[in-house]
Amino acid sequence: MAKSFYITTPIYYPSGKLHIGNTYTTVLCDTLKRYKQERGFDTYYLTGMDEHGKKIETVANERNIPAIEHVNEIAEETKNLWDKLRISYDDFIRTTEKRHKTVVQKIFEQLLDQGDIYLGTYKGYYCMPCESFYTETQLEENHTCPDCGRETTQLEEESYFFKLGKYQKKLLQFIENNPDFITPETRKNEVVAFIKQGLNDLSVSRTTFDWGIKVVSNPKHVVYVWIDALSNYISALGYGTDQNRLFEKYWKGEEVVHVVGKDILRFHAIYWPIMLMALDVPVTFKLHAHGFYMMREGKMSKSKGGVIYPDTILKYYGLDELRYFLLRELPYGGDGVFTPESFVDRINFDLANDFGNLLNRTVSMINKYFDGKISYQDETLDDIDKDLQNTIEEVIVSYKENMNTLKVAQALQEVWRLISRTNKYIDETMPWVLAKDPEKQDVLEKVMYHLAESLRHIGILLKPILLNAIPELFEQLNIEDKHTVWESLTFGSKRQYAVVSKPTPLFPRLDTEVELKKLKDAIKGETEEKSVEESEKMITIEDFAKCDIVVGQVKSCEKHPDADKLLVSQIDLGHGKTCQIVSGIAKHYKPADMVGKKVIVVQNLKPVKLRGILSEGMLLAGTNKNTQEVLVSTKLNPGDKIK
Ligand code: ME8
Ligand code: MG
Repeated sequence: MAKSFYITTPIYYPSGKLHIGNTYTTVLCDTLKRYKQERGFDTYYLTGMDEHGKKIETVANERNIPAIEHVNEIAEETKNLWDKLRISYDDFIRTTEKRHKTVVQKIFEQLLDQGDIYLGTYKGYYCMPCESFYTETQLEENHTCPDCGRETTQLEEESYFFKLGKYQKKLLQFIENNPDFITPETRKNEVVAFIKQGLNDLSVSRTTFDWGIKVVSNPKHVVYVWIDALSNYISALGYGTDQNRLFEKYWKGEEVVHVVGKDILRFHAIYWPIMLMALDVPVTFKLHAHGFYMMREGKMSKSKGGVIYPDTILKYYGLDELRYFLLRELPYGGDGVFTPESFVDRINFDLANDFGNLLNRTVSMINKYFDGKISYQDETLDDIDKDLQNTIEEVIVSYKENMNTLKVAQALQEVWRLISRTNKYIDETMPWVLAKDPEKQDVLEKVMYHLAESLRHIGILLKPILLNAIPELFEQLNIEDKHTVWESLTFGSKRQYAVVSKPTPLFPRLDTEVELKKLKDAIKGETEEKSVEESEKMITIEDFAKCDIVVGQVKSCEKHPDADKLLVSQIDLGHGKTCQIVSGIAKHYKPADMVGKKVIVVQNLKPVKLRGILSEGMLLAGTNKNTQEVLVSTKLNPGDKIK
């Protein structure tokens, strides 16, 4: 029976459009799945969306639509994007799906019953405008909010806690016994150092919002988004249900790989294995945490702008260009930068010149010198031929080693070593010179054959990465399917070639200047659009609509007994409602001036006491250096709304 291979991406937040960062992880997993498939594994690829939590709720509120509508929309958009990128996922899990929710609820209750989770209180500091909790150590000086700098209030909130510390030793032991559990090594070291500092109990529920999965036994709590999210890797396989065939097959199979970015390393390297240990589910996965793509200007974020989107690249270039760049430019264990220059260079140098051109020259020469048909004559090989054949063998070995350890950029580098060697082989053998000598026909044919065979090997190795170009290459060299599979990676296994009569370029060369401008404009355009929309000073119409403003008529007015600047007015708000408002207008208005005026009142302001007297709203008034004017209405009546 074929060995199994289960690979997952993080499930992404639908907080905005996915950028090339998220695309990188998804394309990487797609490539690894295709490679494993090529190697005869029975593969399963899971991706999806992490749809709960405060942030998503807020984004939906800003759009003034129900959260479920918002996430439905983004999930649809994301699936379309993956389809356009020909991502070969087998399942797309959404945490709002019933199949997921029931599993999470079951997991939570089990951990609660076992005593791994207990009810306690979360002490923290709350920033009202940011609607966020912080621990004391996260605060700025004077206990102000680390995000906005405003004052915070100390609060206690009921919360469930997970006893992470209970599993600390076991996890360290596990990491020690499984040296390749976390890769790259540097990430593993970070994790070990973190665990050794001691693991605090983790708050795993919230009562401050409700866009989440309810705790069954105490529904005023929703499950903390990470407990919810991490469970997707097994809920999608039917864990905990009687439809658990996939779970048994893939989770308990030969290889399970979670690919994530370095930003979410701890969640996957600490919380997730501990959850599994507590549930008595075997920790079968290996974790790979890759680095980040940055823009020249800095970090990418779904909400920030100044980023490049995969759609843009697809629109201007093509799928293979996007996949190749992403996989080639992020070094193993490190970060990479997307710049228009590096992108255009990769296409022009690597794809168009080195690779595309090699195919072009080869097909042209086979036509020119042999009418398109050549075969393997058992020639004696000279050193150049042997060197090319050796390079092919070496590259297959190192490609395999690199792919097996998820070093895709290095695997590509190796393939390009072979491409360069093959180009050099043309320079060294000088077919155009051989062609002039009728005695050298055999040698010339041998040279052509070496070129074709080398290209066939290159094609097989690049099959999981270049989804359009490689089938095209096989077609131009007219290679039958059985010679395009991994098993046929042996020099000489295809003996004859009958190539197409005219080559078509695989990758058109780009005009650098034109393309740089296009890309820069695209990046800038996206920045400008976003930065206006998200400028902090802007409020949305929904923000404004929170103010309940009406016309009110002043029934009586008197001076504040304890403050010279203040007047106290009794106001008729229509519909039988009245209120008392204290306002700082005494310098320009006498109480008698106010009586009978139809003023503009914000009636849903939180009541406050001003110098001991309750004020239940606010009158609108304008001021400048010389005067102050209370705004009044002439045509409207008490209770009429102002919008
Ligand atoms: O963290 N470069 O979702 P998310 C490379 N919902 N990869 C990047 C990247 C960049 N600049 N930016 C993002 C979440 N990524 C959680 C995950 S999993 C149980 C829950 C990729 O939408 C990278 O894989 O913020 C990173 O880990 C992931 O997107 C974060 O996606
Ligand atoms: Mg994120």
